[in-house]
Amino acid sequence: MSPLHVTRTLPEDATEAALRADVEHGLTDDPKWLPPKWFYDARGSELFDQITELPEYYPTRAEREILAARSGEIAAASGARTLVELGSGSSEKTRYLLDALTSLAAYVPVDVSESALTQAGRALIAERPDLEVHALIADFTAPLDLPPTPGPRLVAFLGGTIGNLLPAERAAFLASVRALLEPGDGLLLGTDLVKDEQVLVRAYDDAAGVTAAFDKNVLNVVNRELGADFDPDAFEHVALWDARREWIEMRLRSRTAQTVKVPALGLAVEFAPGEELRTEVSAKFREEGVRRELAAAGLGLTHWWTDAQDRFALSLSVAR
Ligand code: SAH
Ligand code: AVI
Repeated sequence: MSPLHVTRTLPEDATEAALRADVEHGLTDDPKWLPPKWFYDARGSELFDQITELPEYYPTRAEREILAARSGEIAAASGARTLVELGSGSSEKTRYLLDALTSLAAYVPVDVSESALTQAGRALIAERPDLEVHALIADFTAPLDLPPTPGPRLVAFLGGTIGNLLPAERAAFLASVRALLEPGDGLLLGTDLVKDEQVLVRAYDDAAGVTAAFDKNVLNVVNRELGADFDPDAFEHVALWDARREWIEMRLRSRTAQTVKVPALGLAVEFAPGEELRTEVSAKFREEGVRRELAAAGLGLTHWWTDAQDRFALSLSVAR
C-alpha cells in the first residue's frame, strides 16, 4: 500500500489568524456575517455528511446519479492522470471518477477539514493500494501549491460548493483554478440548479434539525478557537430564498437582546432581538450563467449533464 501523503500548505497558526480576521470583520459589519468555511471542524464535517443523507437534501443524491451515469464519458473526455479535488470532504462520490479514470496516477484531495481529509485518504489508500494520494490541507480560495504529479490534470469541484462563494469570490476562484491548468486540462464542476422555492428551503431547513445544528456549529468553532461565549440555543436557524440573487441564505437569528464576548479579539458584540447573522449563501445556477462565468475565466464548457429531474448539473469545461 502506498502511504498517504498529507501536506499542510498553511502554517499551523494561519487558520487561527484567518478566523480572527473573518470574525472581527464579519461581526462588526452591518448586517453581520461569517464565512461558511468555518463550519467544517470535525463535528461540522460529520454534520455535513449527515445532511447528505437527509430526505430533503437532494443535491448529493442528484450529483451521485449523474456521476454514476457519466463517469465513463468524463474519463474519456479528460484522459486525466491527476485528479485534483477541491473541497473533497469524504471523497465519497469521487469513487465513481476514480473507478472510471483508468490512467490515473495521482489523486490530490484539497480541504480545510483535516479530519475529513485524513479519514477519506486512509480509506482510499486501503481500497486502492496503487493510487498515489496527496492530501492537501489548504484553503481553495488562496493560491494552491500542487504536488508535481503527471498531466493531464482534471480539477473536480463537486457538491455545488462553488455556490457558497459570493459572485466576486467566484470569479476570482475560477481564475485561480484556470491558473492551475494547462491548455486542454479540465474542470468538472457541480452546480445546484434554480428550482421551486419550497424544495430549496426544505433542503436547508430539514425536519430533523440537522442543518440547524450544522449552522450553529460555526458558533461552537468561534467559542472554542477564540474563547467567545455564544449560546447556540439563543439563536434560531433560518433558511430563506433570495429570488433576485437566486441564492439560499442561511442565517442565525438572535432570540433576544444579547451581548456576545469574543475575548481573543477584545470584542463585545451586541445583538438586537431578531437580528440576523448571515452564515452562508448557497447560490443556484442556470446553464447560461455557468457557461458565461467559466468563459470569463478562460474555460470553455464542453459538456452539461443533469440528473433525471433536472435538479443538479455537472459540467465539464476545458482550459483554453
Ligand atoms: N465535495 C463533497 C463535500 C462538500 S462540503 C461533496 O460533494 O459532498 C464542502 C467541503 O468543502 C467541506 O469538506 C469543507 O471542509 C470544504 N471547504 C469549504 N470551504 C473551503 C475552503 N475555503 N477551502 C478548502 N476547503 C473548503
Ligand atoms: C457544501 N455546500 C455545497 C452545501 C450547500 O448545499 O450549500 C453546504 C450546506 N449548507 C447547508 N446544507 C448544506
